[in-house]
Amino acid sequence: MSDGGETDFEALSEDELRRLCDFLYRQSGMAYGESKRYYITRRVNARMHETGAEVFGTYMALLRSDPGEVQRLINSFTVNETYFYREEYQFACLSRSLLPQIVARRGPGDLVRIWSMPCSTGEEAYSIAIWLLENWALVDAYHIDIIGSDIDTEVLQAAMRGEYGERALSRLPAELRRRYFTRLEEGRWQLIQDLRESVRFTQANLIDTAAMRREGGFDVIFCRNLLIYFDEASRLIAADNLHDALNPGGFLCLGHSEAMSRISDRFVTRRFQEAVVYQRPEAG
Ligand SMILES: C[S@@+](CC[C@H](N)C(=O)[O-])C[C@H]1O[C@@H](n2cnc3c(N)ncnc32)[C@H](O)[C@@H]1O
Repeated sequence: MSDGGETDFEALSEDELRRLCDFLYRQSGMAYGESKRYYITRRVNARMHETGAEVFGTYMALLRSDPGEVQRLINSFTVNETYFYREEYQFACLSRSLLPQIVARRGPGDLVRIWSMPCSTGEEAYSIAIWLLENWALVDAYHIDIIGSDIDTEVLQAAMRGEYGERALSRLPAELRRRYFTRLEEGRWQLIQDLRESVRFTQANLIDTAAMRREGGFDVIFCRNLLIYFDEASRLIAADNLHDALNPGGFLCLGHSEAMSRISDRFVTRRFQEAVVYQRPEAG
């Protein structure tokens, strides 16, 4: 979770920049090009300052010996932009088109599993919960398990606190804000406890195939606005991991500028009235 602060920093050499980008790429799948030089330099210098590493080599040695620092570095590099009811048409697709297909073969009380991956500070996962309470008549007939995951441990802590400012809430209808939030102070709101407890948050790395194999059995995965930060190779790994995390017949929702048809042929493209969604075939 980046701080956005401004400080005077030392430039990295070409070789240092490349080593750092390679390291971040191997850890997270995020591909940083030449154009991000200023962004990268600012963030790594902030970590060096924080850890007391005076030269880049000392900081790289620290990364090799301290997994906690690797996590803090990743946290400082992620782009966590998100807000409530983002790309709301996909939630309409969930309640009107996807869930009816999923529950057609289930009985009352059965489990329906939805994954917000990556969830950033939780707005997407909580939006799904609010949307279903408001728009899906069968919401009480099934056991709905909503999980939010992200590589960034700092955003997951924020998601669990469920406290938000005006910007995060600006697209949420005022009536829903009144119904599901309590006001903490001017411009700060907290999601009501019942809803906070209805979503579980866990850390997960989309390109870590071994770790992703421990997750699974999802009916719907929202993987929105992450693949845009990946290169082709990471996208392919992500596609396989998402495919395997879905139940056969399960659905994948991507961000509006992302398309699975350009990445992998393991999904069937489904054009619903509300949105284009990718489905894991029943057999395969
Ligand atoms: C722009 S946010 C998208 C949040 C939400 N899905 C949305 O569309 O509003 C991208 C998130 O991807 C997370 N991320 C980056 N690399 C990841 C990885 N390899 N595995 C899981 N999450 C990752 C970042 O920490 C960040 O919170």
